[in-house]
Amino acid sequence: MATVETADSIGSDEETEGVRRRDFINIAAVSFAGAGAVATVFPLVNQMNPSADVLALASIEVDISAIERGQAVKTSWRKQPIFIRNLTDAEIAEANAVAVDDLRDPQTLAERTSVGKENWLITLGVCTHLGCVPLGAAQGEVKGEYGGYFCPCHGSHYDTAARIRKGPAPKNLEVPEHEFLSDTVVKIG
Ligand code: FES
Repeated sequence: MATVETADSIGSDEETEGVRRRDFINIAAVSFAGAGAVATVFPLVNQMNPSADVLALASIEVDISAIERGQAVKTSWRKQPIFIRNLTDAEIAEANAVAVDDLRDPQTLAERTSVGKENWLITLGVCTHLGCVPLGAAQGEVKGEYGGYFCPCHGSHYDTAARIRKGPAPKNLEVPEHEFLSDTVVKIG
């Protein structure tokens, strides 16, 4: 304000300087407002960081002791369905009998399971075509032509290693990162 009064009361050269000074004051004021905006935005950004309970959901521990051979269960992780399947010896043999190079998404059962835990097939329950939840995990559900999972949305068939065998899905059901904490507890994520 003091600068504006001085500029109005003097000659044109100094007035120009006064205008410049006013500009400077305006710019300074804007800069200050900018700094204020940053200060107020920061807490909002901070609030967007995941809280402790959300971070905890980054992984889950599942007790698999009640899942018998030939059974599967559905659970969820990071808001996505997860299938945990305890394969029978026959299902394992069926998966291992497939010529891997002939598969659309070539992977062995061993590559999709943990060492020494080949019977535990853990996958996302999300069809790799357009994201439907395939059938086959719950008792009595259709398992498709290859005995694994069947996506009724557009007819994708997955085998006993949850590998895509028929239909439009481009990839096998995804295996999430997981680790066995014991023989009966698996950590997913
Ligand atoms: S979403 Fe599964 S076949 Fe299309």
